[in-house]
Amino acid sequence: MTFHLIRLAKPDDGAAVAEIYRPAVVERATSFEINPPDAEAMATRIESCLVRFPWLVAEEDGEVTGYAYASAHRTRPAYQWSVDVSAYVSNRAHRRAIGRSLYEALFRVLALQGFRNAYAGITMPNEASEGFHRALGFTPVGIYRGVGYKLGRWHDVLWLERALVPLDDTPPVPTIDLALLARSPLLDAAIAGKPTPRFRLATDGDVPAVRRLIDTSVRGLSEPLYSGQQIDSALRYLFGPDSRLIADGTYYLAEVDGEVIAAGGWSRRQTLHGGDQFKHGDDPLIDPDREPARLRAFFVDPRWARRGIGGLMFHICSTAARAAGFSALELTATLPGEQLYATLGFAVVERGSVSMPDGVTLETALMRRSLTATPSESR
Ligand SMILES: CC(C)(COP(=O)(O)OP(=O)(O)OC[C@H]1O[C@@H](n2cnc3c(N)ncnc32)[C@H](O)[C@@H]1OP(=O)(O)O)[C@@H](O)C(=O)NCCC(=O)NCCS
Repeated sequence: MTFHLIRLAKPDDGAAVAEIYRPAVVERATSFEINPPDAEAMATRIESCLVRFPWLVAEEDGEVTGYAYASAHRTRPAYQWSVDVSAYVSNRAHRRAIGRSLYEALFRVLALQGFRNAYAGITMPNEASEGFHRALGFTPVGIYRGVGYKLGRWHDVLWLERALVPLDDTPPVPTIDLALLARSPLLDAAIAGKPTPRFRLATDGDVPAVRRLIDTSVRGLSEPLYSGQQIDSALRYLFGPDSRLIADGTYYLAEVDGEVIAAGGWSRRQTLHGGDQFKHGDDPLIDPDREPARLRAFFVDPRWARRGIGGLMFHICSTAARAAGFSALELTATLPGEQLYATLGFAVVERGSVSMPDGVTLETALMRRSLTATPSESR
């Protein structure tokens, strides 16, 4: 079998993609479009798709042989974790596992973004497409009878569904836009089938794993900005899980094969920093109209550092904080954290330090960022 490369589409692929799509428009009712888009129109479609959803192509000896992409299933907000998917392979290249490779890579990217369900509609009859979707794990939902009229007759459409991640009861986490993911090496890792994280909300049962993560992260990533004494002291008195965030449903984890490799959250409460051991008294709610939400307790396992996970976690937190009505975020940054937050558009408001009960102090920075521009616009 010839090797085919799966990669993200570019607007320059418009001509090749338009050529592959054309027979489905002009010769058959596979697509319900009537006029085939030209290279330029296809380039525009690719570009606008890639803001939020993946569009992949298969390439063999420099020639595009197939493509697959996702789009929103419906527009109302409760549908935001569900996508429609479609694959087209050049008539000359059928039955060589190109469609399979495209869909498998597409599903890995969609799962990394946090999408949960994929749907496909097939104009009937289409033995190839039905066999293909069933082989890729889709099951039929039902048939829309006579839902489209093209080439002189009415057509039925069979709808199929497939879970992208195992469906469970954990509450949803905001999905990650493709444009943002494209800046992280995780996108290529997902396309290539390498391990990538799943993001989910933390629960009470995760506290021991979060504690271990914080220890590993702080010990592995704080030197030389902090001394060994500062690290020991901060791990004892300052850094730790804040169970209030977990109870509020605003603390997230990234897991790879069931192992917690990153954590981070936001808060609608006054506390700016510190785990359970550092806090005392009530932690009152903030009024979103008057004060910024807090960004809290970001920790990444050193083995997963510098792969864009902090940035993706920030996107999840900022999307949720914005949806809760906040228009700015504030945080106490450690010195290693300051570099990440500056990249994410935060500015230092003032420098300070946190004093621990053993007399050791930790230099920190109070940082702030507006939420009125989207994260992708402002970076
Ligand atoms: C559907 C389509 C994308 C499949 O692409 P492909 O690269 O030929 O598919 P693959 O080689 O990856 O096939 C994977 C599996 O799907 C199933 N499959 C693919 N073509 C099939 C066919 N003609 N009949 C039955 N099953 C088929 C098989 O189980 C196959 O595994 P196998 O070859 O080991 O038996 C391709 O036929 C196509 O582009 N058709 C025209 C456009 C279209 O209808 N797109 C779908 C729009 S809804």
